[in-house]
Amino acid sequence: MSTRPRRPGPATPAPGKLPLPELLEMKRRGDKIVMVTAYDAPGARLADAAGIDLILVGDTAAMVVLGHDSTVPVTMEEMLFLTRAVARAAKRPLIIGDMPFGTYEASDDDAVHNAIRFVKDGGADVVKLEGAGPSLSRVRAIVGAGIGVMGHVGLTPQSATVLGGFKAQGRTAAQARQVYEDALALEAAGCFAIVLEAVPAPVAARITEALEVPTIGIGAGADCDGQVLVYHDLLGLYAGRAPRFVKRYADLATEIRRALETYAAEVRESRFPDEQHTYSIPDEELAGFEAELGGLGETESVPSGRAARPDASSSVAPIASCY
Ligand code: KIV
Repeated sequence: MSTRPRRPGPATPAPGKLPLPELLEMKRRGDKIVMVTAYDAPGARLADAAGIDLILVGDTAAMVVLGHDSTVPVTMEEMLFLTRAVARAAKRPLIIGDMPFGTYEASDDDAVHNAIRFVKDGGADVVKLEGAGPSLSRVRAIVGAGIGVMGHVGLTPQSATVLGGFKAQGRTAAQARQVYEDALALEAAGCFAIVLEAVPAPVAARITEALEVPTIGIGAGADCDGQVLVYHDLLGLYAGRAPRFVKRYADLATEIRRALETYAAEVRESRFPDEQHTYSIPDEELAGFEAELGGLGETESVPSGRAARPDASSSVAPIASCY
């Protein structure tokens, strides 16, 4: 008798999931790794269908989904909520849970505890955290607990205040050397890949060459082993300026606004819903219904403004069956 579980356990890759070691192979073969952020099931499903390799449930959710001015306020509970939605929908891409500010800085124990929550409660495959220095010990602890860690150096938005704002990093020889050393130290600590954010392209190229694990660039030039963009940036899901490194592959904000304006106008002009979007009732049933209403006294009719509630025994089709 086979002892193989029918469903993979939490530490077992689901069937069809991109195996983590494949990222190293991709680097060796020179195949570029494609990563995007996603924060909900529809976005994750589309990313999966588009053949994206890695989905980051980024703490950028704080800004692009939750309306904050920085990534700092997003909480562990909020990140888990979003990660669960993404993990339910995306099958092949590896799901990376982005550890929010405050969930790993204080101690290795906190870091391990919260990384486990991402995997166990959130359905993430691996986690990401920012910085080197004290983060190196966190990486070692989380990797020691059996969870893969993606590093992140250069512009690390959780410490944007200390870095003097959302600015490119590594633009002096000394700073470039620091970013280089941080990346090497993260690899030595056990990271399976490292995000390089807002780093000059030649510096990122040298780091990519020096590392065995893949680099994933965002504003770090074309020589990184892979690229990542924020979903809302690349799809143009908001009006206004995006960072220099963003390429907009669509202008969905304009498209969505146009659709909403058309919807609003059609409702106001009673042009929506039309016949095509309305349910019919056979003539004889309608006549019967009218007759029944006619048979009701004024006092028995449904008071205006209050919908009649079907009793538990009446068979009302669930809303979902109408679709
Ligand atoms: O949170 C995020 O979206 C990120 C990417 C910008 C790499 O960290």
